[in-house]
Amino acid sequence: MLIDIIAGARPNFMKIAPIIKAIESAHAQWEVDLQYRLIHTGQHYDKKMSADFFEQLNIPTPHINLEVGSGTQAEQTGKIMLRYEEVLLHEPSDLCIVVGDVNSTMACAIAAKKLNIKVAHVEAGIRSGDITMPEEINRIVTDSITDYFFTTSEVANHNLRHLGINNDRIFFVGNTMIDTLLSQLPNFRKPHIWEIADLRERNYLVMTLHRPSNVDDPSIFKQLMNEIIASVRGLPIIFPVHPRTRKMLANLDIKVPNLYPIEPLGYLEFNYLVNHAKVVITDSGGITEETTIMGVPCMTLRNTTERPETCTIGTNLLLGDDPKAIKPAMDILFEGNWKKGHIPELWDGKTAERIVDVIIQLFNKSSSVSSIENQVVESK
Ligand code: UD1
Repeated sequence: MLIDIIAGARPNFMKIAPIIKAIESAHAQWEVDLQYRLIHTGQHYDKKMSADFFEQLNIPTPHINLEVGSGTQAEQTGKIMLRYEEVLLHEPSDLCIVVGDVNSTMACAIAAKKLNIKVAHVEAGIRSGDITMPEEINRIVTDSITDYFFTTSEVANHNLRHLGINNDRIFFVGNTMIDTLLSQLPNFRKPHIWEIADLRERNYLVMTLHRPSNVDDPSIFKQLMNEIIASVRGLPIIFPVHPRTRKMLANLDIKVPNLYPIEPLGYLEFNYLVNHAKVVITDSGGITEETTIMGVPCMTLRNTTERPETCTIGTNLLLGDDPKAIKPAMDILFEGNWKKGHIPELWDGKTAERIVDVIIQLFNKSSSVSSIENQVVESK
């Protein structure tokens, strides 16, 4: 069978890397008929947002690059659909695997499904409830046409059941992002900024902000920055800046000696910094999962999260959109009272293997692979 694996934007790359490895190893080990075609949509195209991740995570060069680049929501989504449809019309696949919630995820799911190609969604079922976020729309639309739902949590299973999805299409397998994190932990690398800012363990903050709601309005962005700077007791703030944030930050003209805005980091350097940080301040979703695994305190500058287990089980706290919430949270942290957190169920580094086992069972019933019941926790 031919499987398309779709990747478009930075947070996709760590999710597809272990799936590709698991496909390759299943193919070699069990001699099952399993071919894949890696399709990069080109949503992210900067070296630091894309190529560096392929190199560090040993992801093979994509078979096809749709090279769509930036654009408005509809432009980007439409271009991806048109170009992926062309690929499928030329050579259809048997299954299209999409991951996460970016525009590439939704666009390719639609293009495949309209050609009657089965769609598998990795990280299905999560919801923030905030329909103003493009990612939430992408999640809802993708899940509405998905055939096989691979989930990271019981909450996601529950959300899907609530939508009327049958249990036999929901596979609670864990988190492929964590597969990558656990396998790359020994390879984490100290970035140059460590020496430049004279960093010491647990004595600096890492910050990432790129959501339109936080950075697109200069007065909101400035207020957030001022509150953060005022409440960190002079500790260095390392701020790898996303391309969309770069333009906005330049306009704010903030210059304080402990703020270090730097270029986006590679995966290995970024997670080295996170692993040794006192706290991470972010508006990303994926980073809150990584801090949970590394046991690093995390403050999320959003009103909602699609990953509630990072708060209920992990080290994450939602601060909402009021900048005044930052100082009290910092006080708890500096007093040493931040929650310790635990590891969510099945975030164990073996998720991609489970996904590939399920796919083999679904598409190749006669395979000699051991029963998936042993490995996949059935959603109750
Ligand atoms: C996308 C995802 C978001 C994810 C984020 C991580 C959607 C709807 N959003 O948001 O969920 O958290 O990626 O990075 O899919 N740009 C560059 N170089 C690049 C890519 C983008 O300069 O390689 C600039 C462009 O000016 C572009 C802007 O960044 O207009 C935004 O890029 P886009 O892909 O539209 O969305 P992100 O904000 O990156």
